[in-house]
Amino acid sequence: MKLFDCVVTSHTEVAPEHFRLVLKNKELAEVSQPGQFVMIEVTETWDPFLRRPMSIERMFSDSISILYKVVGKGTKLLSSIRVGEKISVQGPLGNSFPIDLDFKDFFIVGGGIGIAPFPGLAEKIIRIRGGNLHVIIGAKTHSQVLCERDFREMGCRVYVVTEDGSAGEKGLVTDVLDKLKVEVHSVVYACGPIQMIKKVHQICEERNWICYASLEAEMACGIGVCLGCVVPVKYEIENEMMARVCKEGPIFDTRVIQWEKI
Ligand SMILES: Cc1cc2nc3c(=O)[nH]c(=O)nc-3n(C[C@H](O)[C@H](O)[C@H](O)COP(=O)(O)OP(=O)(O)OC[C@H]3O[C@@H](n4cnc5c(N)ncnc54)[C@H](O)[C@@H]3O)c2cc1C
Ligand code: FES
Repeated sequence: MKLFDCVVTSHTEVAPEHFRLVLKNKELAEVSQPGQFVMIEVTETWDPFLRRPMSIERMFSDSISILYKVVGKGTKLLSSIRVGEKISVQGPLGNSFPIDLDFKDFFIVGGGIGIAPFPGLAEKIIRIRGGNLHVIIGAKTHSQVLCERDFREMGCRVYVVTEDGSAGEKGLVTDVLDKLKVEVHSVVYACGPIQMIKKVHQICEERNWICYASLEAEMACGIGVCLGCVVPVKYEIENEMMARVCKEGPIFDTRVIQWEKI
């Protein structure tokens, strides 16, 4: 993990209040893996003081991309950064998505901005494993469906689901996952609101599928020091049944989480 000065080479509003930011730095791009995240300095002033954690969406030869939603002060400031400006990025941080080549089918489930870490993962799975990659994209409404074209262009089988039924099926990503005929030796990768991940985990438990989830937590340091981002787990780390999302995660096998405590 290091600090990198990155140059903004593209910054586009891809949906209302949702942006894709491309950050050029060859060294950072070369060491980043799908599932890892970076801590971005959204302003050179002291307010807000803390960097903001963002998943790495995709890795290119000399840059990475970030897909983010404006939810508060930090992301609002980030959205005003212009092409050509420099930005300080700490990373890459955390673990990455495990890819077991023995799995028969691969399923990606992204709720809302939770789709952000998956284009890079899909690219990697397709590169090393070929097809059999299914992607369920969930959104509140049609204008917030993210990355559909990217996944289709990669050759993934894409299922779109919206809460208001304005695109794809009406309902939730978990409704679609529940109905799919999945082989036993399959893996589900999930990211989104915690209640969505909990439900995905329950579906996977019932069917004996493996689920790896990218969890979110409010983060201060991003490097395992402040203990501000812990989740309850079923194993002990340094005498505590707690894991740090920034250090042991953000990717967890959902069987290790103590869901009843969340
Ligand atoms: C490992 C990791 C990866 C992430 N990847 C992405 C990503 O790819 N794209 C993206 O849009 N967002 C991502 N997030 C969430 C993102 O970090 C927060 O949305 C951002 O920090 C909010 O900053 P803000 O100053 O705009 O909002 P604030 O003003 O700080 O808060 C606004 C609202 O957002 C909530 N919030 C703040 N920080 C977080 C957080 N870390 N997790 C959940 N809720 C939060 C607050 O409780 C509050 O309700 C990620 C978070 C983590 C921990
Ligand atoms: S953010 Fe400080 S320990 Fe995770």
